[in-house]
Amino acid sequence: MATVFITGAGIRIGSAVARAMGRAGYDLALHAHHSVKSLEALAEELRGLGRQVSRYSADLSDPREVEELGARVRADHPTLDVLVHNAGLYERVDFEAITREQYRTMLAVNLDAPFFLTQALLPSLRAAAQPLVVHLTDIGGERPERRTAHYSVSKAALLMLTRALAVELAPHVRVNAVSPGTVAFPESFDAAAREAILQRIPLGREGSVEDIARVVVFLAREAPYITGQALAVDGGRSAQL
Ligand SMILES: NC(=O)c1ccc[n+]([C@@H]2O[C@H](COP(=O)([O-])OP(=O)(O)OC[C@H]3O[C@@H](n4cnc5c(N)ncnc54)[C@H](OP(=O)(O)O)[C@@H]3O)[C@@H](O)[C@H]2O)c1
Repeated sequence: MATVFITGAGIRIGSAVARAMGRAGYDLALHAHHSVKSLEALAEELRGLGRQVSRYSADLSDPREVEELGARVRADHPTLDVLVHNAGLYERVDFEAITREQYRTMLAVNLDAPFFLTQALLPSLRAAAQPLVVHLTDIGGERPERRTAHYSVSKAALLMLTRALAVELAPHVRVNAVSPGTVAFPESFDAAAREAILQRIPLGREGSVEDIARVVVFLAREAPYITGQALAVDGGRSAQL
């Protein structure tokens, strides 16, 4: 049975990816930081489908916890077919107000954690027949929004990591990115902010978490000749000025 490890699987996109991969027949290793209660409920749901599910908790801004997480997952799963780096930090701050600590934490979660987790889990990936790494990037990693300098830089670097590892780990390990546009508005967005964004999406709606999840499943099951690519799942937003 193939196994997928997903970071940030307790809520929103991460939990949708876990459900979709579970339904597609994968056993699951699932990580959360704060959302451990919802991860527990999700694990029960997926066990109900007959899947094996192991759970992990770690703060991905802490390099020691990242190292321990990598070691635990590797010990529990000597073979790992798919690794989905979904956990990510997002905040909007004026450039001049971004502290060194905010900058460091952003890079630690969005870039360093995927970098070093993949490194730690490489032996398990290499033991799989057709291993795949997926990064959750962002169309904003190529065309930044205002007040997201540290976030945009982290996602741009993650996109380059996608390409760098696709080249370096070929031909055995494929590495791709899924770049959401606006998916499931955060509660903090008011009606005016939502409308302003919807105006810029040709398909006229925000994306759903399932829109993202089904592309991860596609990359895992249907795309053996795709590596080093970022698939924008954004309703066409990045296609226009
Ligand atoms: N939603 C969108 O419109 C959108 C757009 C572009 C890109 N993306 C990317 O898609 C991914 C998922 O997005 P989302 O909207 O579902 O995310 P979200 O609702 O903001 O949730 C963030 C996820 O990251 C985890 N996380 C954050 N900081 C962490 C830390 N220090 N240690 C461990 N885990 C941490 C959280 O885990 P806990 O809850 O367990 O703490 C949670 O699962 C992210 O990488 C995001 O950048 C999303």
